[in-house]
Amino acid sequence: MQYKAVRGFKDILPDQVGAWKKLEEEAKRVFGLYGYREIRIPILETTELFARGIGEATDIVSKEMYTFQDRRGNHVAMRPEATASILRAFIEHNLYKESSVHKVYTIGPMFRYERPQKGRRRQFHQIDVEIIGDPGPRSDVELISMIMQLFSSLGLNDLELHINSLGCPDDRGQFRTELKAYLKDYTSQLCPDCRERMETNPLRVFDCKVEQCIEIMKDAPTMLDLLCDECTGHFNSLKRYLEHLGMEYVVDSHLMRGLDYYTRTTFEVQTRELGAQSAIAGGGRYDNLMMDFGGPDTPAIGFAIGEERVVELLEEHAGLNEPGPDIFLAALGREAGDKAFVWMQELRKRGLRCEMEYQSLGLKAQMRHADRLNAKRVLIVGDDELAKGIGIVRDMSTKGQTEVSLNTVVDEVAAMKERS
Ligand code: HAM
Repeated sequence: MQYKAVRGFKDILPDQVGAWKKLEEEAKRVFGLYGYREIRIPILETTELFARGIGEATDIVSKEMYTFQDRRGNHVAMRPEATASILRAFIEHNLYKESSVHKVYTIGPMFRYERPQKGRRRQFHQIDVEIIGDPGPRSDVELISMIMQLFSSLGLNDLELHINSLGCPDDRGQFRTELKAYLKDYTSQLCPDCRERMETNPLRVFDCKVEQCIEIMKDAPTMLDLLCDECTGHFNSLKRYLEHLGMEYVVDSHLMRGLDYYTRTTFEVQTRELGAQSAIAGGGRYDNLMMDFGGPDTPAIGFAIGEERVVELLEEHAGLNEPGPDIFLAALGREAGDKAFVWMQELRKRGLRCEMEYQSLGLKAQMRHADRLNAKRVLIVGDDELAKGIGIVRDMSTKGQTEVSLNTVVDEVAAMKERS
């Protein structure tokens, strides 16, 4: 019996980790420039938190959540996203009392039972960012420029920023009524799911992937036509600030996003390089969620980057493997091996990346091993070298060789690394 990873769950192998690290390290660096702090939240939450936060009628809650009862019969879910958990943590720990605006990020796996395909997994990873406590629109623009700065510093420039506004709850109420009226004329042509959505939450018909429903929604009324004066003002300021910063955008009135908590600004960063799964990041404002969870009236905005999708773009753009050892110690014979083993530990304490092999292979095999590991240098020590008290250091790129005294080998090798 050969075990395999569960469908939609993937291993990230050592050769692939370089791109992930690059993305996460660059994200942390850029977020630091904007004053964000890390928060870490659990993978399991009560099912109720997501049902309430994301919305019962969304695909995520109604079809895609990994939910189960624990041994005591409590209903729990593996998080499909991070926003609801972060707000739960803010309320639970009274963090909002500490200052008026909080900027946080978290990085980790999310779980959605979707049909796996390129750029879509059942376990996927997000870099999630939230500003809690500011009504915008400047914070909306700050957040969007931060994400674009991150992508640009990763060398990803061929991207499109799509923006929309979903208005306030009053606007949404009116929109829902208009949308229902529009959809009534098409009831018999809608898919069975959308016929139900039409009654429970007509906005979610925009998420449907059935061709006929997509066609019907092309002429549907849009939220932008119905925005109240205040929400129109917010959206206009957002566009003006984006223009001030020289950022290009596309107004996309069909950008509904798949979660119910959004108000006003929503946005996505899209690429043409990944086929159907074109959104590499998405987010928006959710000014009422904190109150819906029983907390104080606190506006907020955030986004999440889909790491798998960005890594796929990075892999096409750069070779990002881990660096090889600074020195590989090729020892021939037991005595040389014992000495090299001690030198290797000394060198590691001095901060050098070191490797040797323990199988007593011949010199040729050891050199091949060093080459495979991409070692920068190899220290060669056999019986002859021990007798003379002199080792040989070979530079693997120039193939040049230097002699080193075995009495001071650790100092000399460490100095070579410092000079290079
Ligand atoms: P979302 O649009 O559901 O938003 O997910 C954000 C990003 O996660 C997507 O744009 C996509 O890149 C990635 N993603 C989503 N599902 C999958 C999947 N099955 N496989 C691979 N990647 C995927 C949210 O999750 C919101 N919580 C974002 C947010 C934060 N809004 C406000 N604050």
